[in-house]
Amino acid sequence: MLPILFLVALLFFPSSQAADFCVAKLKGAGNPSGYACRNPAIVTVDDFVFKGLGVAGNTTNIISAAVTPAFVQQFPGVNGLGLSTARLDLAPGGVIPMHTHPAASEILFVVTGKITAGFISSSANMVYVKTLNKGDVMIFPQGLLHFQINAGGTAAVAVVSFNSPEPGLQITDFALFGNSLPSKLVEKTTFLDDAQVKKLKGVLGGTG
Ligand SMILES: *[C@@H]1O[C@H](CO)[C@@H](O)[C@H](O)[C@H]1NC(C)=O
Repeated sequence: MLPILFLVALLFFPSSQAADFCVAKLKGAGNPSGYACRNPAIVTVDDFVFKGLGVAGNTTNIISAAVTPAFVQQFPGVNGLGLSTARLDLAPGGVIPMHTHPAASEILFVVTGKITAGFISSSANMVYVKTLNKGDVMIFPQGLLHFQINAGGTAAVAVVSFNSPEPGLQITDFALFGNSLPSKLVEKTTFLDDAQVKKLKGVLGGTG
């Protein structure tokens, strides 16, 4: 009798069923473990498809490069799945300057062109740098400073993937000089002189 009651209860109250996915409800605060789930009844296949990476990013900028993210903010379907992706476009001479993704490791696949990429270890500042060709893959461990430079005379494209729906992106030069920290403090913390700091703040949009 009891087992039958239990089965009936399971049939009518399947409340402990595992959720297959958790498409992000972006309104409301996210936190390190993700966003609230959209009601699965209104989720469609389009929540699992992102079309934005078919278009080249606009590289008319100071770095002659563009990052087009498909992180949880742009692609709510990745919420809770521990992954996301992005497209890199590097015009000739382009660079994704030294940067970190605080929350994720990265794997980069070169689709077209030639890219010199590298990262620096946190222990002993070891440098790992390589020029990559079409089809090559390189990994960048979580949190480490890394960069990508177009090493050819033609446009380069890469697809990168992350083991987080929200890897974060902090470009070191902008963090150091594109801010409002008074120049005196920037000079002290970077060992650069006043003229260098003022110049970099000017170029990178800093104040103070
Ligand atoms: C690319 O960005 C530049 C600089 O912001 C802008 O002037 C230009 O119109 C943009 N091009 C396209 C195709 O959006």
